[in-house]
Amino acid sequence: MTTTTTGTRPAQAVGTAHTRVEGPDKVTGAARYAGEIPFTELAHGWLVLSTITRGRIRSVEDAAVLEMPGVLAVLHHGNAPRVDTGYTGMMGMSPDPTIAVFQHDRVPHAGWPVALVVAETSEQAREAAEALVVHYEEEPHNVTFSGEHPDAYPAPGVGGPGVTEKGDLAAELAASAVVLDAEYTTPEEHHNPMEPHAATAHWDGGRLEVVDSNQGTLWVANELANLFSLDPASVRVRSEHVGGGFGNKGVRAHQVAAVMAATVLARPVRVVMTRRQMFSLAGYRSPTTQRVRLGADAEGRLRALEHDCLSLTSTVHEFVEAGAGPARVMYDAPAHRTANRLVRLDVPSPTFMRAPGEAPGSFALESAFDELAEKCGIDPIELRLRNEPAAGPVSGLPFSTRNLPACFREGARRFGWADRDPRPGVRRDGRWLLGTGTAAASFFVGAMPSTAAATAEADGTFTVRINASDIGTGARTALTLIAADALQVPTDRVRVRIGDSDFGPAMIAGGSMGTRSWAWAVTAAADELRERVALSDGIPPEGITVRSDTTDAVGALAQKERHSFGAQFAEVAVDVATGEVRVRRMLGIFAAGRIINPLTARGQLTGGMIWGISMALHEEAIRDEGTGALYGADLAGYHVATNADVPLIEADWVDDPDPDDPVGIKGIGEVGIVGVAAAIANAVWHATGVRHRSLPIRPDRVLTAGPHA
Ligand code: MOS
Repeated sequence: MTTTTTGTRPAQAVGTAHTRVEGPDKVTGAARYAGEIPFTELAHGWLVLSTITRGRIRSVEDAAVLEMPGVLAVLHHGNAPRVDTGYTGMMGMSPDPTIAVFQHDRVPHAGWPVALVVAETSEQAREAAEALVVHYEEEPHNVTFSGEHPDAYPAPGVGGPGVTEKGDLAAELAASAVVLDAEYTTPEEHHNPMEPHAATAHWDGGRLEVVDSNQGTLWVANELANLFSLDPASVRVRSEHVGGGFGNKGVRAHQVAAVMAATVLARPVRVVMTRRQMFSLAGYRSPTTQRVRLGADAEGRLRALEHDCLSLTSTVHEFVEAGAGPARVMYDAPAHRTANRLVRLDVPSPTFMRAPGEAPGSFALESAFDELAEKCGIDPIELRLRNEPAAGPVSGLPFSTRNLPACFREGARRFGWADRDPRPGVRRDGRWLLGTGTAAASFFVGAMPSTAAATAEADGTFTVRINASDIGTGARTALTLIAADALQVPTDRVRVRIGDSDFGPAMIAGGSMGTRSWAWAVTAAADELRERVALSDGIPPEGITVRSDTTDAVGALAQKERHSFGAQFAEVAVDVATGEVRVRRMLGIFAAGRIINPLTARGQLTGGMIWGISMALHEEAIRDEGTGALYGADLAGYHVATNADVPLIEADWVDDPDPDDPVGIKGIGEVGIVGVAAAIANAVWHATGVRHRSLPIRPDRVLTAGPHA
């Protein structure tokens, strides 16, 4: 099927604010989440995690626990069904062996799943799980992440190659009028979606059915089919409502354990992670140590740029937090070097977390630009405008659109940047020092092949089926607006059904590529359906259904640098007596493609910005070197921004339709968090004259960082 429309197609619903189509169901409780959908004969599994960080399981003393009330089974490495991990997973990635639970006696990190206790009620399962005695043979571990690791190695990832290099870095640095060389660090950070991971598995007429909370049902279904050597068509995964997922709701230990138990017991089994277990089993953002070297001429034009990012991964799986990624897109220089390096430690496997790479990488790079601006005596926005590249610094490819300057101009106007006194530490409000800061944001966008089906029903309504996932983004609503416009009918005549692997292949909710990829398939199916309906003599009782597959169209996309961009602005107040930093206001102006639903889009962007406040000031998971486990693995010990931390915050956008997308979409899921921590750190410098290169900017760090103006 070909798509004949362009980013300028006429719109009625698209671009107008629309409340979530499933909103009434959510606020009345009619919408059921994976952990609360009723099943007859439901049994409950409770995961038991290792209490040691490295070693072997000597024995699992299950006999005593099997005598406890309601207990049905204890699965562990000695008795669990075998699974196959020798396959290639989603997008060619090898699966994280962490999902292959109970296959061997080795413990590679703290909180490794060692058993599943299954009982009639979740209370009985929990009590038995907590009573289960596991004997270990403990071995020494190393969980210490620092800037110095002799065995660190450059590692490629979804962010591209491990190292990119051009030009003579030493020569250009030596010839530069101004040089900045600084190290930045970010801590281990956790996603913490409000809804914990939850799955119920059961066999139904020879078919494995899983009700789950995930970012892509077919992703989970295919991994389960591979692991259990099943025909992919015999696995169905549904995920209708998802209470948040920021990269960590893929295939995880809970689904695999639930399938094992459902198979062994021949009844439905539900496994829900606790908040505390999520800190070990659900992935997280690696800490980073980043070195940025910038060399510029007297006018601030870059001669040299180096960004080196060290992150960690587990001993069982390679995942790269590609912090050097933004430097490959944002700024060019005759000498340009980026490196993403990894060290393997006895820690849980990190994973994708909102704006993987860009979130921590932009903190270092955009802080460094602020430092360079100060050294050059150039306004930080002007410095960025002078270094706008004509093409991708590493790829050499043209940008599909790059409206970053427009974001800075509009943001500066609305934020009142022209009145800013560049000198640090000279504004006071009582005991507070005041400052403002800015930073650039970018995030890769693209489209992935997807399929959709659109049906004209005999009653005059339309049903669209697409295996999309709405993890709170508003995707279901956005697709409703897109389908309505393509069908040229009001939105209340369109229902969009999502979150079912039986609907066929479609992009996951990830990489800021979900809505664009799905919208393409929905548009293609709806366009053709509209034409078919116009030519038909009425709708037959079974309706008229058109299917689309965008594989060819997406594959024909020209190679370009495709990114959403943004300019972040923050005003902070710093109490030099207590070290407290308050963000007073924030503004983000984005160039992020055509905006489908301004209401939910604004929520996506401000949600990212609020997380950026959290990242700048609060979030930090502390790993105890002695035990190898986290301190305070809960929402009391792990601080996130809450209402009182969130000031007046505004997100808006400039016109920026993607010329190569049928609807003009780019992607907005992740760009909102990018650059925020740098904008805040830059504002803290402007307030105090003290540069903070380590996140979070805690009160003790503010107090001990040095003299204030
Ligand atoms: Mo996102 S980190 O691609 O869910």
